[in-house]
Amino acid sequence: MIDVARVRAETPGCRNVIHFNNAGAALQPQPVLDAVLNHLQLEAEIGGYEAADRAGVALEEVYESLARLINGAPDEIALIENATRAWDMAFYSVKLRPGDRILTARAEYASNVIAFLQIAARTGAEIVVVPNDEAGALSVDALEGLIDARVKLIAVTHVPTNGGLVNPAASIGRIARRHGIPYLLDACQSVGQMPVDVAELQCDMLSATGRKFLRGPRGTGFLWVRRSLIERLEPPFLDLHAATWIGMERYDIRKDARRFENWESYIAGRLGLGAAAEYATAIGLEPIWARVTTLAEALRRALSEIPGVTVRDLGHERCGIVTFTTEGLPAQELRKTLAAAKINVTTSSVFSTRYDMMARGLDLLLRASVHYYNTEEEVSRFCDVVRQRVASG
Ligand SMILES: Cc1ncc(COP(=O)(O)O)c(C=O)c1O
Repeated sequence: MIDVARVRAETPGCRNVIHFNNAGAALQPQPVLDAVLNHLQLEAEIGGYEAADRAGVALEEVYESLARLINGAPDEIALIENATRAWDMAFYSVKLRPGDRILTARAEYASNVIAFLQIAARTGAEIVVVPNDEAGALSVDALEGLIDARVKLIAVTHVPTNGGLVNPAASIGRIARRHGIPYLLDACQSVGQMPVDVAELQCDMLSATGRKFLRGPRGTGFLWVRRSLIERLEPPFLDLHAATWIGMERYDIRKDARRFENWESYIAGRLGLGAAAEYATAIGLEPIWARVTTLAEALRRALSEIPGVTVRDLGHERCGIVTFTTEGLPAQELRKTLAAAKINVTTSSVFSTRYDMMARGLDLLLRASVHYYNTEEEVSRFCDVVRQRVASG
């Protein structure tokens, strides 16, 4: 059981807002804030390089904290400024040729698909979108049926930006492993809200961000790459951190996952990211997941009882992201009303998840994403505001 009063007391933002935008950026807990602010203070007092030297051990511990969080190893972690670049460093490292196939899901994130399209145009590789099952998750049977010698990468989003869907990442992993196909999992929206265990998921590469359900600072993220794959992946960019200039015409690429990093970075943010991983691990990902799903289901139930509201979440298993549309009321208008009542939500448009939104005939959704520090009272208050606004047209 989570001590909700305590985690709320440790979250300054809870005093000001009802924060249902955890899929955008969650409220940071005090220990994360302290880690960032203390380091910024130290930089101001003694100098940036000198502060980094002093934080040397703590910075190494960030890799350990993240590895513990996802059941990987510290040398399999690269700290990267956001989930997109983390994902890119893995994806652009995979060599593809004409006719090679990338299998992906209908709920794939726009930035990933844009990268697929760029590489498809450059190399002649093909993108194949695996159909959904009857509940709207990636169909594991359809995926299995599409496997052949042309498939060189399976790249799937675990939890999409536009809804409560949880794709069957572990079942996908079993297929990928059985056929020896590299498997890249975009875990940007899942890390921090549910247990994510790379051994259980059997993925080979996993990208995540700091600021969303993990409750870390903005401008932070990480990539995990299975050790056996690291040296087979040549990063699309190298610098003097990822590699060493050892002869006039020779360089050596690092052997650990830090080959995907670059030298200059937001040190205070990294420390904050480590603090966020420690904070989540201390609370426990199982209790976090239990509370997130309970609150989200309560929210879906209450919303679906409001006339004119349609909940849009797909899948057998659903997470803390709740999306809905309101008849005759644009999502942007409702968002403004909620903001005036100090309730944070956001919208999700066709530009973020085109395959999925087009298939469902949707162009904009209201997205309310809950976390374990939210309360049942906040869910009720949220639904009251939505009910009144929808009724007034
Ligand atoms: C599924 C998914 N992948 C990737 C990203 C990008 O993450 P970042 O903004 O940290 O690069 C997002 C952000 O919303 C996302 O929802």
